[in-house]
Amino acid sequence: MRAIVISATGGPEALTYTDDHPDPEVNPGDVLVDVAASGVNFIDVYHRMGRYPLSLPFVPGEEGAGTVAAVGEDVRGVAVGDTVAWSSVPGSYASRTAVPASKLLAVPEGVTAEVAAAVTLQGLTAHYLTHSTYEVKAGDDVLVHAAAGGMGLLLTQIAKLRGARVIGTVSTEEKEILARQAGADEVFRYQGFADAVRDLTGSGVHVVYDGVGAATFDESVASLRPRGMMALYGQASGPVPPVDPQILARNGSLFLTRPTLGSYIATRDELVWRASDLYGWVASGQLRVHISERYPLAEAARAHENLEARRTTGKVLLIP
Ligand SMILES: NC(=O)c1ccc[n+]([C@@H]2O[C@H](COP(=O)([O-])OP(=O)(O)OC[C@H]3O[C@@H](n4cnc5c(N)ncnc54)[C@H](OP(=O)(O)O)[C@@H]3O)[C@@H](O)[C@H]2O)c1
Repeated sequence: MRAIVISATGGPEALTYTDDHPDPEVNPGDVLVDVAASGVNFIDVYHRMGRYPLSLPFVPGEEGAGTVAAVGEDVRGVAVGDTVAWSSVPGSYASRTAVPASKLLAVPEGVTAEVAAAVTLQGLTAHYLTHSTYEVKAGDDVLVHAAAGGMGLLLTQIAKLRGARVIGTVSTEEKEILARQAGADEVFRYQGFADAVRDLTGSGVHVVYDGVGAATFDESVASLRPRGMMALYGQASGPVPPVDPQILARNGSLFLTRPTLGSYIATRDELVWRASDLYGWVASGQLRVHISERYPLAEAARAHENLEARRTTGKVLLIP
């Protein structure tokens, strides 16, 4: 099968293409899928760099969608030919992948495999951040960084669905237009954003969704109202240095959390709840999925280069 393999961690050149990789083993409980599209996520960059170490060699990628090609022993309720999607399953940058049935999601009518590959990982994340980490309520003020990115466009739309006022940050005018199209009420550049947020809101926002990390952390904290929630869910600009808990006291009894998707889809019921909300919104047109770029699998390195250089918006896909 076709696959990207990482034999040594490093820059984008570490993503090596082969059309002669052995098919994955299908163990009991697994389903073999012909991949229609693989999602590119920032975590793939961290894996490639070795920031989150995996044992070498490995096929990167954690998300995709496609058609069931074979069903392993002990799997019920899944048939050859079904359209399915997954997230948090290693080995997705490939033309075939084995997915544990416990992580498999049925893709309903009205959602294409490509859209499912684009929305599952980031959509599940946006769902837990807005429904569980901090439950966004009508009238809340919400700050979303990198509002035109894969996560940002979904967070913006879902927070709007819940009735919030959304303030986004972005680096360019093109990204500002996209964030506004997704429903952002106000969009700022990063320079001095905490002052701009406080001027707009008076007392600060209820929650900050910060996937940028090092570059934004301090001003994110300064943007919160007393008892607000700092949801530091990523570090696209680099890891945040150690934090003195006193900053939470000084800024008004704040909450700080560093959530990960795995903790919020820990049970099958929770995974299915979040995915069915997500696919339902997509099928009904309430949630738009912006796929900005599709690359042939062999060009995974170019996809990573562009993601890291802030040249992408919305979702980036690899087509095997
Ligand atoms: N914890 C979780 O469960 C979870 C799950 C999924 C994703 N994440 C995190 O969410 C974040 C966003 O992921 P994504 O895949 O949706 O990526 P993305 O937002 O589409 O791309 C990253 C964006 O971050 C902004 N950025 C600011 N400073 C940057 C820098 N120095 N280098 C690169 N980008 C920078 C850029 O937007 P501007 O140009 O507008 O600044 C860039 O487009 C990542 O940190 C990722 O790890 C976390």
